[in-house]
Amino acid sequence: MVAKFLLITDLDNTLVGDRHALEQLNQALMKARQSQALLLVYSTGRSLASYKRLRAKEPLLVPDALVTSVGTEIYYGGSTTPDPDWSAKLDQGWQRDDVLSITAHFNDLVLQPEADQGPYKVSFYLSSTLATDLLPRLEVALHIRGLDVQVVYSGGKDLDILPLQGNKGHAMQFLGHQFQVSPEQTVACGDSGNDQSFFRAGQERGIIVGNARPELLTWYQESAADHHYLAKANCAGGILEGLRHFGFLA
Ligand code: GLC
Ligand code: MG
Repeated sequence: MVAKFLLITDLDNTLVGDRHALEQLNQALMKARQSQALLLVYSTGRSLASYKRLRAKEPLLVPDALVTSVGTEIYYGGSTTPDPDWSAKLDQGWQRDDVLSITAHFNDLVLQPEADQGPYKVSFYLSSTLATDLLPRLEVALHIRGLDVQVVYSGGKDLDILPLQGNKGHAMQFLGHQFQVSPEQTVACGDSGNDQSFFRAGQERGIIVGNARPELLTWYQESAADHHYLAKANCAGGILEGLRHFGFLA
């Protein structure tokens, strides 16, 4: 019997971005699934509706679970109701209105469209030139107000404010428990700032694709560890390379 592993991957510019490589990876994953060796989870910054739009355009395998909205919503088997236990965890100490009243003082923060907001996610656009100065000031302002939140900056343009528990890394660990897969048999893949929490979470294996954004690469270079692998290939090609590196695929 082959040991089961949990593959959790970001979508945009990680799994998706190189169609040919994605099709190759899908073949390998379908084979692993046949021998029941694989649990597949997608974890994206997108909302559920936005994930569905991507799914209509790209050849995505049906995942065993789906994490949307930067780790703040977890769905199983096509359900459109997020896991209530996960929502309950995020709810502790989360004061969305207070977050908005603080951010209102920062004129450079541009609120993302309503469709990209979530019950446990407040999102803005912020250019990288303004971010260096603004992010520390924003964190101080939130902290002084006593708000237990985390500020996540991705792709040099997106800013998410989330409950402390609500990131991709914590959602991954929650699913590891649900599926009873150990950290050593879990592997996470990403390319940008909101994927950093995958790699900071614990002993889970990590694949950083070759086309990763500077905010993730810098972090990787400063905190390189044996259980993290920086791939040479981009997107799905990098995932395949990393899965072979860790021995999850032959
Ligand atoms: C996705 C989401 C957006 C979020 C970004 C980074 O693009 O649609 O709301 O800010 O990911 O996490
Ligand atoms: Mg991405």
